[in-house]
Amino acid sequence: MLLEVTDLAAGYHGLEILHGVSLSVGEGEVVAIVGANGAGKSTTLKTIAGEVKQYAGSVTFDGQPVTFGRSHTTAQRGLMLVPEGRALFGSLTVEDNLRMGTWGRKGREGFSEEEILDLFPILRERRAQLAETMSGGQQQMLAIARALMGAPRLLMLDEPSTGLSPKLTWDVFHAVGAIRERGVGVLIVEQNANQVLKLADRAYVLESGSVALDGEAAALADDERVKAAYLGA
Ligand SMILES: Nc1ncnc2c1ncn2[C@@H]1O[C@H](COP(=O)(O)OP(=O)(O)OP(=O)(O)O)[C@@H](O)[C@H]1O
Ligand SMILES: [Mg+2]
Repeated sequence: MLLEVTDLAAGYHGLEILHGVSLSVGEGEVVAIVGANGAGKSTTLKTIAGEVKQYAGSVTFDGQPVTFGRSHTTAQRGLMLVPEGRALFGSLTVEDNLRMGTWGRKGREGFSEEEILDLFPILRERRAQLAETMSGGQQQMLAIARALMGAPRLLMLDEPSTGLSPKLTWDVFHAVGAIRERGVGVLIVEQNANQVLKLADRAYVLESGSVALDGEAAALADDERVKAAYLGA
């Protein structure tokens, strides 16, 4: 597996939030994490990226451990996180934001700028616009596009559809499909369990910092407990 997370415990200032999470993502696999607010979804992604301290267990990317505090090195190895809230360079143009994304590429092959603009046509139209003047949804696309410029081998997306119209959400999910076709692994956190379970190959349900359920996404979408808690059925 590209990513192996084993019995991971992690948290903030000594307070444990994740209590032994295990998950994996293979090349070209889309894996979803669903769960309630505060379940620890973002903490899971941030710990995998090396931004939150591990208390126990391990995170292995491409056979090598991920260490806390080395998130730049981790990104250069091809493990990239698009966080909630995007973190763009607001006073730079769309095009310059995309160019900045290539810093982590380290000679890896990946999507070209033209291919990325094909995935997100709105960015091509708005090439010269300042990032901070783009709409929320457009900024979300730019954040994903910029990460793709770094030729990720595993892309982690934290609630990419937040604030997006159904049309833009579809564009983002379509792009995730194209990313998978390239053999890139995707670990995606979504509030919209209904939609993400249609897109994903496998999924994990996180409850209070532990994996409550996991399996094929289609099977989870049919599970009565998942339906009751997360699909509004
Ligand atoms: N920087 C931080 N310092 C202290 N506690 C934090 C910090 N970030 C998150 N937490 C706590 O960790 C727990 C899990 O938060 P996390 O952001 O991982 O949840 P989440 O599943 O992503 O929720 P949401 O769906 O609302 O985004 C929460 O109780 C939260 O208050
Ligand atoms: Mg979150």
